[in-house]
Amino acid sequence: NTPLQLKLPACLVIPINVIISQHIKQKPVIGQSALSHTPASLHINQTQHCKLLPGMVSSQAQLCRSNLELMQTIIQAAREVKKTCQKTFADMRWNCSFNRNPRTREAAFVYALSAATISHTIARACTSGDLRLCSCGPIPAQILEPGYRWGGCADNLHYGLIMGSKFSDAPMKMKRAGSHANKLMHLHNAEVGRQALRDALVMKCKCHGVSGSCSIRTCWKGLQDLREIAMDLKTKYLSATKVVHRLVGTRKQLVPKDIDIRPVRENELVYLQSSPDFCSRIDKQGSVGTQDRQCNKTSLGSDNCDLMCCGRGYNPYMEKLVERCHCKYHWCCYVTCKKCERIVEKYVCK
Ligand SMILES: *[C@@H]1O[C@H](CO)[C@@H](O)[C@H](O)[C@H]1NC(C)=O
Ligand SMILES: *[C@@H]1O[C@H](CO)[C@@H](O)[C@H](O)[C@H]1NC(C)=O
Ligand SMILES: *[C@@H]1O[C@H](CO)[C@@H](O)[C@H](O)[C@H]1NC(C)=O
Repeated sequence: NTPLQLKLPACLVIPINVIISQHIKQKPVIGQSALSHTPASLHINQTQHCKLLPGMVSSQAQLCRSNLELMQTIIQAAREVKKTCQKTFADMRWNCSFNRNPRTREAAFVYALSAATISHTIARACTSGDLRLCSCGPIPAQILEPGYRWGGCADNLHYGLIMGSKFSDAPMKMKRAGSHANKLMHLHNAEVGRQALRDALVMKCKCHGVSGSCSIRTCWKGLQDLREIAMDLKTKYLSATKVVHRLVGTRKQLVPKDIDIRPVRENELVYLQSSPDFCSRIDKQGSVGTQDRQCNKTSLGSDNCDLMCCGRGYNPYMEKLVERCHCKYHWCCYVTCKKCERIVEKYVCK
């Protein structure tokens, strides 16, 4: 059944590998060439499709065969991981390009984001009715103020966390694959991601009452958008802690490298090896460099041209923007607009 395999969307191949095998088994993966294939929609609805997904360990393949619906949701999550990672790091030198080294803080971020995203996507799929084996989350026991009442459909975080960790932690729970230190690092970071997700379960309310008077509100527990969870994890990425694998008592554990003896905190991302500066292309270290990256001349952040281009300089280019303009409201009820063109100067790194 090779045709289907070739049609695997690149956006799936890359992140699934990132999530599962790449960092663990350190196998060379389907590289950039996969990206040139047009993403096609792969629909997992037969158990033999599970064989077509690259890089799954046996317990993941088993989960796939026993729950095809869930697998479809996990594939959707893999796409989200890639999209969200790229958006979150668009202003950084490392732009979420594939990173071969599983011991860096970039890998730490990818693991945390993957774990959070899988559970997030499953929790939401329960709510939207895409999964037959779960439905809305429980109604909280907490008593609400007058004028508020529980209603609606809560995101099923509990189910999301259970099924999500079952899938995303499976490679780290294998006896043979990968070094002990790497596995501890990835399990820890995946848990940090899931904790960020737990923190993102917030009360959401909707107004009811005569003509929007809001005399009564129904509320439910809903998850914040992935984008916000990713920003939270990006902050943790920036302050991640370097650790070493050391004997503590009778067991080898990860402990912070430079700080006085303290255990690793539950909310910090950890990594074992420092990263390159990502300025230039070093294939061996998984750095694609910042040549041709877009930068911002006036920004004070990390996308500032001097920072992004590592002092190499940058080239301006002109871009034509087409915008809606001179909009006019017509009674009743529509708006007409003209199209205006505007030339803006943009910059890419030399
Ligand atoms: C599986 O999904 C494909 C694509 O959506 C569809 O064409 C096919 O009929 C489905 N097969 C089954 C057995 O549902
Ligand atoms: C990341 O940067 C590299 C190097 O400039 C570029 O080739 C690649 O397309 C970028 N990826 C994204 C998603 O922007
Ligand atoms: C560049 O950065 C400035 C300051 O942060 C911002 O106002 C502007 O919109 C940015 N330009 C682009 C093209 O992103």
